[in-house]
Amino acid sequence: MASTQDLVARAREAAQRAHAPYSRFHVGCAVEAADGTVVSGANVENACYRLGLCAEQAALSAAQHAFGLREVARIAVAGGPMRDDIIGGAEPITPCGGCRQAILEAAALSGRDIEVICAGADGDDWVVTTISALLPAAFGPAALG
Ligand code: THU
Repeated sequence: MASTQDLVARAREAAQRAHAPYSRFHVGCAVEAADGTVVSGANVENACYRLGLCAEQAALSAAQHAFGLREVARIAVAGGPMRDDIIGGAEPITPCGGCRQAILEAAALSGRDIEVICAGADGDDWVVTTISALLPAAFGPAALG
């Protein structure tokens, strides 16, 4: 298992590879499996603004291909606004509503209350929470019967 600091570093590294020319807000996400394998992803925007992909969903897609959503144990999200070619800001980023739903899917499959580490682009001021805290009273796969 990576240290929290290492997982945040992987998310920050991923944010460097975002394609975010429209918002200039770069987000990276690192997903760790129960066996310690880590995959990552970043936000990928396009000219039809509303069709951009969030970092968490990109990373969860990579996780599904690498080891399966069932194995997801921890997720780190990090990033901030790009200014003068530098991604800055120490304010922790929390997953958007849609990404929370995507994380919940992995949590329901794995039976784990996935840990979510929210960090800014720099600094040591991250917040460690869980998907159940981020998305209470969720609509999950169990509701479908
Ligand atoms: N973004 C993410 O990648 N994840 C989130 O949870 C919040 C927002 C991206 C989407 C868009 O490319 C940019 O950040 C600004 O909203």
